[in-house]
Amino acid sequence: MTFKTLDDLDLRGKRVLIRVDLNVPMQDGRVSDDTRIRAVLPTIREVLDKGGKPILLAHFGRPKGKPNPQMSLAPVAPALEAALGAPVRFAPDCVGPVAAQAVAELPEGAVLLLENLRFHPGEEANDPAFADALAALGDVYVNDAFSAAHRAHASTEALARRLPCAAGRLMQKELEALEKALARPERPVAAVVGGAKVSTKLDLLGNLSGRVERLVIGGGMANTFLAAQGLEVGRSLCERDMLDTARDIMREAAGRGCEIILPIDVVVAEEFKAHAPSRVVPAEACPADAMILDAGPQSVARICAAFDASRTLVWNGPLGAFELPPFNAATDAAARHAARLTREGRLLSVAGGGDTVAALNASGAAQDFSYVSTAGGAFLEWLEGKTLPGVAALEAC
Ligand code: 3PG
Ligand code: MG
Repeated sequence: MTFKTLDDLDLRGKRVLIRVDLNVPMQDGRVSDDTRIRAVLPTIREVLDKGGKPILLAHFGRPKGKPNPQMSLAPVAPALEAALGAPVRFAPDCVGPVAAQAVAELPEGAVLLLENLRFHPGEEANDPAFADALAALGDVYVNDAFSAAHRAHASTEALARRLPCAAGRLMQKELEALEKALARPERPVAAVVGGAKVSTKLDLLGNLSGRVERLVIGGGMANTFLAAQGLEVGRSLCERDMLDTARDIMREAAGRGCEIILPIDVVVAEEFKAHAPSRVVPAEACPADAMILDAGPQSVARICAAFDASRTLVWNGPLGAFELPPFNAATDAAARHAARLTREGRLLSVAGGGDTVAALNASGAAQDFSYVSTAGGAFLEWLEGKTLPGVAALEAC
């Protein structure tokens, strides 16, 4: 991986177009989680410190190429201003005369946030004319939106081919963490893959089983693997049409020297709801009328032992129905163990993907992981071994 960073760009007096990901959770018109906002502050501050004018390009939601007041970035400007401690202006369009005037009037020391890129169809179409219109607003381009790098959109792809460009500090951190975790890791490597469905993680399992020594499978998708081994899973979430695929994955992993770690005991309940009465049973003893909602304590011990024996850990997806207490127990315990090993310098731990970050934050373990990605889909695609168009464009700069 070779890409330029902020160290390689001359920023003094320059209009710096910075692609950021401000696709943040909002409730009642207010930002409810500012993780992604805080994550881009170092780049914005550095551009300001070096005398550049930061002009932020971002998307919000999926407005499908048309203006939609529900998906305006306007409410993000005050949240960004509060976090940054410098003035943030907002322009109600991201191209054309409105944007050009806002750029021209931007005083030194201030930041300009442009309206949702996806209000224009040219953004998602990676349209050259739209990319030209964006490029006209700046002198240099910085991509700090790793979490949108799996999209070949005008602001993530075509724009990089039009201006001198570099990765922002967040993009740089994300790429460096992923490289250490999977491209050139210290071995042995363990991976945790959880979540509901095998069908959405096929490429991930296929890629990881060729790259890691131990693959822990958890969450609803573990049930499909248990069923594939002929075990009763009762009324558990299970993809019956994926049993052959699960068996293929296990066979392939064995051939590649990757140990697949499945639950050996499970927490079962009759109802899918918080605090439903539950009990622990061996994985081969799920009652026909019960459903598996978490991995049991022996499984957790086995997972922790796998972490103990590894130098690197990649984590995507929860081990149980973590949003319904107490079925977050296995995820919490394993995450806290990984956090402890990381603190002790025995493990490099990298986690990412929408639910994963929520689960690790809830367990309090996230802050001790070596790196927690801000990305959902982009993290997943990177782990799947796919080329991210936004990263490829930066490498071509
Ligand atoms: C995300 O929230 O994962 C990114 O901002 C990308 O959003 P998208 O899935 O709508 O492209
Ligand atoms: Mg997404």
